[in-house]
Amino acid sequence: QTKMCTYDPGYTSTGSCESTITFIDGGKGILLYRGYPIEQLVESTCDFTDAAYLLLNGELPDGNQHKAFEQELKSHTMVHEKLIEFFKGFKSDAHPMAIMVGVVGALSAFYESKNWRDPAQAQISCVRLIAKVPTLAAIAYRTSVGQPIVYPKNEYSMAQNFLYMMFSSPSEEFKPDPILARAMEVIMILHMDHEQNASTSTVRVAGSSQANPYACIAAGISCLWGPSHGGANEAVLSMLEEIGNVKYITEYIAKVKDPKDPFRLMGFGHRVYKSYDPRAKIMRQITHQVLEHLKVVDPVLDLAMELERIALTDEYFIKRNLYPNVDFYSGICLRAMGIPVSMFTVLFAVSRTVGWCAQWKEMALEKGNRISRPRQIYSGAATRAYVPLDKRA
Ligand code: SDX
Repeated sequence: QTKMCTYDPGYTSTGSCESTITFIDGGKGILLYRGYPIEQLVESTCDFTDAAYLLLNGELPDGNQHKAFEQELKSHTMVHEKLIEFFKGFKSDAHPMAIMVGVVGALSAFYESKNWRDPAQAQISCVRLIAKVPTLAAIAYRTSVGQPIVYPKNEYSMAQNFLYMMFSSPSEEFKPDPILARAMEVIMILHMDHEQNASTSTVRVAGSSQANPYACIAAGISCLWGPSHGGANEAVLSMLEEIGNVKYITEYIAKVKDPKDPFRLMGFGHRVYKSYDPRAKIMRQITHQVLEHLKVVDPVLDLAMELERIALTDEYFIKRNLYPNVDFYSGICLRAMGIPVSMFTVLFAVSRTVGWCAQWKEMALEKGNRISRPRQIYSGAATRAYVPLDKRA
């Protein structure tokens, strides 16, 4: 029986942080980007450039700043041709998140700096990442389906460009669909930042050692991939397909609640929100709009709505404050837009790159920032003497 042994390591934990970027009130279902309610940002004319500038620089841009920032992003959407070679090395059925971990991390081989704490170096790294990650994501998709790479076309907005690089065909003229482009832009804004979630904390911890920011964002992508986090949108779709039909919902929920072997309802619950995730409400509206616009009748949406209705009236979920989160509807919407399930978390990473960069930059430029070293509770063996091998039983 090991004795509990505690000691004071003599340093304060640097695991938590102070930030001015995003505020969440989990009880009231409030999400603010630099003080602006997420609902206002997505219901207004706020576009990708606006939201990215706001998160990265702290204020909404004025006309000139908006134009200059959009131009700056567009001038960095291309990636080094040598980096495109990397995509040829992956197995044809490689998961796009595995590819993204590799190629985003590889950006650190193309951009080096003696000092990531230099404001100009920090800013340009964020701009490059925000501009290039959508291009890399589209290339990952195109190579996975054996289609030629489509280079970004800077006449398009960031959201339109992403859809263009994903779905245009060299043999046909690409006709951007404004409804889908706006839906994509809102989805990107919704997922941009979410204070100190697991992947953002990963980026901050990696960045606290003054590591290359491109490698830090790759670390964030690795963490986001897990089904408990960004991988949940993919897991929701698999869950809904496993349930298959409304008539099996009650049986499935009974299995979720089974005290002998409980498991999680994907797309439900949240570390912070103990009320409805405000993003889930918006995602549900967008999903209805997109399916209506595309005239898609998806029985999985009806199934999801019925599952939500039943779960929200079930004592087990009510008692545990379990509500739909942002991932509950996003997969249904993305699939209707033609985005394959394997790319759902990649799209989450494309959007979250903005928040990861804003959080990394805030940490990197913070005066006196120290290397992160979260505290532990030691419950291992107390000090004891070494026993030579020939003396051991
Ligand atoms: C994201 O942090 C962020 O901000 C993340 C994110 C972001 O934008 O970055 O919002 C994105 O990751 C959203 C979450 C996506 N994950 C899922 O949808 C996966 C399913 N959800 C769960 O795995 C879970 O709800 C978590 C991981 C999201 C939160 O887990 P917690 O904090 O450990 O849950 P908890 O400790 O508050 O659980 C309390 C109780 C437990 O039961 P009891 O031990 O009290 O009996 O609720 C149960 C849990 O077992 N529970 C669930 C459940 N989630 C928690 N039971 C059934 N289904 C669930 N989904």
